[in-house]
Amino acid sequence: MRLGFFDSGIGGLTVLAEALRLLPAEDYLYMADTTHVPYGTKSQEEVRSFVFEAVETMLQHGIDALVIACNTATSIAINDLRETYSLPIIGMEPAVKPAVEMNRDTGKRVLVFATPLTLKMPKYYALVSRVDEDGIVDSLPMPELVQYCESLQFDKVVLEEYFRAKLAPYDLDNYGIIVLGCTHYPFYTDILRDMLPPHIQIINGNAGTVRRLSALLNRYGIDTGMGSGNVKFMCTGGEAAYIEKMKRALTLLR
Ligand code: SIN
Repeated sequence: MRLGFFDSGIGGLTVLAEALRLLPAEDYLYMADTTHVPYGTKSQEEVRSFVFEAVETMLQHGIDALVIACNTATSIAINDLRETYSLPIIGMEPAVKPAVEMNRDTGKRVLVFATPLTLKMPKYYALVSRVDEDGIVDSLPMPELVQYCESLQFDKVVLEEYFRAKLAPYDLDNYGIIVLGCTHYPFYTDILRDMLPPHIQIINGNAGTVRRLSALLNRYGIDTGMGSGNVKFMCTGGEAAYIEKMKRALTLLR
């Protein structure tokens, strides 16, 4: 049994790392769409066709369940993927619902970081409309952060300067939680933690996704627990250097 994880690039590794912690006795295939990363600044039509092309390749290599470990790809393609393929498929959802619940009665607001495409999709609008009765959710597109991450830019000084500029229009005293709504962003949790006021929590949807994956595998009656945490890395461009980069990036998360 092998679980497939897909992302535009290395962001989905933050979800894979969580899976390796929570489901260590499975085997994994991780696919990055290096030919087309980043997704968050492209059109819906482009991203939809990129996702289908990559998923077809993953299926040819043998996977028993699929995690779309990319918020942008999920927003655009998850429904069509589920209609097209019969294997269990899980996607990402920005953790807006838990953030609103955790923040209730504090009088503070919630700030969601995500890609421009995720934020403009009806799926995001529907999510916020459903859970944000009191109108406390604000959204901030962070496309540059995907580029930083893809180039393994983890320099604290550079990133702090970037975050300060992005957050300058916001009075952080008014916010209680930041939601990382793109799977690339948890690479920057520690840098954010060090620079944000201590009252601000930082959350992402990765553990929730892995728990839903585990429940879905049970529901489908798929035999689990027989692997060894082996990860096969692939990328659509086939670059050996990128495979090494993914392996290195995963070690930063473990
Ligand atoms: C991107 O490729 O722009 C990031 C995708 C995502 O995780 O939302």
